[in-house]
Amino acid sequence: MGVRPGLAAVLVGDNPASQIYVRNKIRACRRIGAHSETLRLSAGTTTDELLRTVERLNGREEIDGILVQLPLPTHISAQRVLAAIAPEKDVDGFHPVNVGRLVSGQPCLAPCTPSGLIEILKRSGIGIRGRRAVVVGRSNIVGKPTAMLLLAEHATVTVCHSRTSDLPSVCREGDILVAAAGRPAMLTREHIRPGAVVLDVGINRIRDAAQAERFLGHDTARLDRFRKTGSTLVGDVHPRHVAEVAAAYTPVPGGVGPLTIAMLMSNTLAASQRRIPASGGPPPHGA
Ligand code: GUN
Repeated sequence: MGVRPGLAAVLVGDNPASQIYVRNKIRACRRIGAHSETLRLSAGTTTDELLRTVERLNGREEIDGILVQLPLPTHISAQRVLAAIAPEKDVDGFHPVNVGRLVSGQPCLAPCTPSGLIEILKRSGIGIRGRRAVVVGRSNIVGKPTAMLLLAEHATVTVCHSRTSDLPSVCREGDILVAAAGRPAMLTREHIRPGAVVLDVGINRIRDAAQAERFLGHDTARLDRFRKTGSTLVGDVHPRHVAEVAAAYTPVPGGVGPLTIAMLMSNTLAASQRRIPASGGPPPHGA
């Protein structure tokens, strides 16, 4: 269509996990033939300096998507930085304008992990309309936008969090259970309705041998790898319990993560359509 989508990723400081995430996003851009660049700023960057960086990217025609990798160093106001990104270039869907559009059902760039979850359900032929969905976690990045997208797909949605009383029985109401609480293997057999569909957004690095034994005791190959490397990744759902109780589930690693990046590419492509005259702007939820 005569437009090459362009993504700029801004990485502040040297958080090792953030470096890996940004590298994978840039690789995905290369794979789809999009232009990409990473702006690396030192951990001592001030809010004002970062705001000026974002302003410069806002003004560059060949950059369609701007992504400021989170978390930012604590002395920087993430809220101010995210609000400075031009809403039409906000491929993470974190700008208050896009959040408001998502909540009120208007076309918007929606956050990538939540839209990836919807994509997984749809492509797996799992119906959402009329089903009970339970979301564990209320973050702005995953929990809240996931609840909004499920609602837009006509699920009946419950959002739980660390202060929900009797969490297991609330979770067991879910035909669809989304785990995004950030605690390793916190959802166990008692939280999962037999036959439920479980989407595990958690990525937790485990270094404790007793924990690894408890979560992965059934999987000798993974346990062997843990013993060799000293660490492994587990989600927010107990790997053995979910395999035994759920009808379908996303494994960690390898489940939801790749979809997050795919949806970032989808949002970047949608944002680039702005440069095609009379294209009508991005489609609903950037899909
Ligand atoms: N940190 C964790 N998840 C995300 C994400 O989806 N986008 C950005 N920018 N930072 C993150």
